[in-house]
Amino acid sequence: MSQYHTPVMVEEVLAGLQAAPGKRFIDATAGGGGHTRAIEKLGGTVLGIDTDPDATRVRGNFRDIESIAKEHGFSAVDGILFDLGVSSHQLDTPERGFSYRFEDAPLDLRMNQNEGMPAGELLQKISEQELYEILAAFGEEEHSRAIAALILRRRRVKPIATTGDLLHLIDKREAPQVFQALRIAVNDELNALKEGLRGAKNLISPGGRLVVISFHSLEDRIVKLFMKTDAWKLITKKPMVPSAREVYENKRARSAKLRIAEKL
Ligand SMILES: C[S@@+](CC[C@H](N)C(=O)[O-])C[C@H]1O[C@@H](n2cnc3c(N)ncnc32)[C@H](O)[C@@H]1O
Repeated sequence: MSQYHTPVMVEEVLAGLQAAPGKRFIDATAGGGGHTRAIEKLGGTVLGIDTDPDATRVRGNFRDIESIAKEHGFSAVDGILFDLGVSSHQLDTPERGFSYRFEDAPLDLRMNQNEGMPAGELLQKISEQELYEILAAFGEEEHSRAIAALILRRRRVKPIATTGDLLHLIDKREAPQVFQALRIAVNDELNALKEGLRGAKNLISPGGRLVVISFHSLEDRIVKLFMKTDAWKLITKKPMVPSAREVYENKRARSAKLRIAEKL
């Protein structure tokens, strides 16, 4: 079986969190538990949360981080990590519909298949204007207007139910942006992030650390603005990025941006 997920920027995360024996942390996106295990190895205690039922640890959406943490006795912590985006496990499992590498998969794209609407269903119900707005805002796709029109015309003939149905409609170069936009929409990712960060602020003790790894500019912008508020001392003025060696060894690390703030 292939590995669930290779954690990115592990050394930077451990240093950013100031992980040490006896300290308590929350890993808000535990995935395969790579970061969680690294923190535990240094003697930290970790509450690992993930919305994906396939992931290890506690199942839950980080938008509810405050209530989940309190339920598990983690109401004041030394640090919280968010490692946003999708895991390799999600990308590499065709049935999840996350990847434009597979043509024959249901167009789902949900982090948690028990919640919300699969992308294929969204494409069947949404108005052309709303679809255009999703593609333009979340995919920053320049042909959003044309793609939205194409999808609406197509679905009258046949539902866009599989990744292949969508891939046959759009240009190959547009696939990353279109899939990203739909993923952000079906998981309500940007609102979940804003709510998760607000919850994290209430859980981190003074002097504790918030570490966030993001993978696209919309997320990074939210994190950057959030860390500028007066609850925080900024540790990273500019985001940290992975070393050339890490990107060479793990190409999925290439767009990672890591920001650290300390609770005042
Ligand atoms: C990049 S992976 C994290 C990998 C993890 N750090 C590791 O070492 O294996 C991102 C994870 O965040 C989870 N996730 C995304 N949005 C979430 C949310 N709103 N609440 C909880 N987990 C979420 C995904 O299911 C995925 O497993």
